[in-house]
Amino acid sequence: DWTSDVFIDASIADLKAKIGSDKVVMGLSGGVDSSVAATLIHRAIGDQLICVFVDNGLLRKNEFEEVLDSYKHMGLNVIGVDAKQKFYDALAGITDPEAKRKAIGNAFIEVFDEESNKLEGVKWLGQGTIYPDVIESISVKGPSATIKSHHNVGGLPDFMKLSVVEPLNTLFKDEVREVGRALEIVEKIIGRHPFPGPGLGIRILGDVTAEKVKTLQEVDHIFIKGLKDHGLYDEVWQAGAMLLPIQSVGVMGDERTYEKVVALRAVGSVDGMTADWIHLPYEFLGKISNDIINKVKGVNRVVYDISSKPPATIEWE
Ligand code: XMP
Repeated sequence: DWTSDVFIDASIADLKAKIGSDKVVMGLSGGVDSSVAATLIHRAIGDQLICVFVDNGLLRKNEFEEVLDSYKHMGLNVIGVDAKQKFYDALAGITDPEAKRKAIGNAFIEVFDEESNKLEGVKWLGQGTIYPDVIESISVKGPSATIKSHHNVGGLPDFMKLSVVEPLNTLFKDEVREVGRALEIVEKIIGRHPFPGPGLGIRILGDVTAEKVKTLQEVDHIFIKGLKDHGLYDEVWQAGAMLLPIQSVGVMGDERTYEKVVALRAVGSVDGMTADWIHLPYEFLGKISNDIINKVKGVNRVVYDISSKPPATIEWE
């Protein structure tokens, strides 16, 4: 029978044996998976672990500062890197979802490579890959059979010359949370909704710009804060907002408007492999919709996504 304590003991022993006195570098995302993986590795090898947290300009509002702060309290050794502009440059003009993932993944590897080259004697790369990431990225019949290429899975370009260590790659999300709680990681991190590595980049349909990111950050912040304030956050497995590449006509005072549409999505799931849309209360949806339209410049319409996975996916891209 699987228990988190047995897993943790075995995993720490395994990591110690594998890594020895080598150094490990690891990219953190602020999410549950990378935070739990880092804490586990930290338990095994202490300060031989060096973490990098990149601001890719596609994070939630205030997320970079808040997450860096949490990590400080956890005793992790974290280097924060502001690479926003590099990612915006890499994404300029790209509209295809998989091309965006690739651009984001490549920019991340470049930043990460730059940072890890500044460190001496690093032999390993730690990753927070979990089991569903592994299966969704396995391509049986070549690239066309891949559902979505999760950019944070496995293989790295040869030039990095690091061996990969992925202590969570046999676990499902609920097991990762159990392990995290047993490691006494704060609930603020453990209870977080999953958030994709490519971040808001795959929630802005069409091309990504700094301005669109700003708009979506405000929308997302109103929605997520609303869920928390109304005691709904923990009822939902994952929630977020999509900025759509269409405009619609509206009216504000006696003025005609022609502005953007956002879609809100909230799903229930166990592991992200399948998901159902959540029946959020109409009053709540009405309030959030009003708040968004009144407070966020450039948005005049809010819709709610009522599709389940399958046949839809959780993210729109
Ligand atoms: P989908 O959209 O495939 O999402 O139903 C399932 C879960 O995976 C997350 N997701 C990603 N995570 N890199 C990630 O790290 C990605 O490219 C990616 N695409 C989707 C999604 O947020 C959901 O939790």
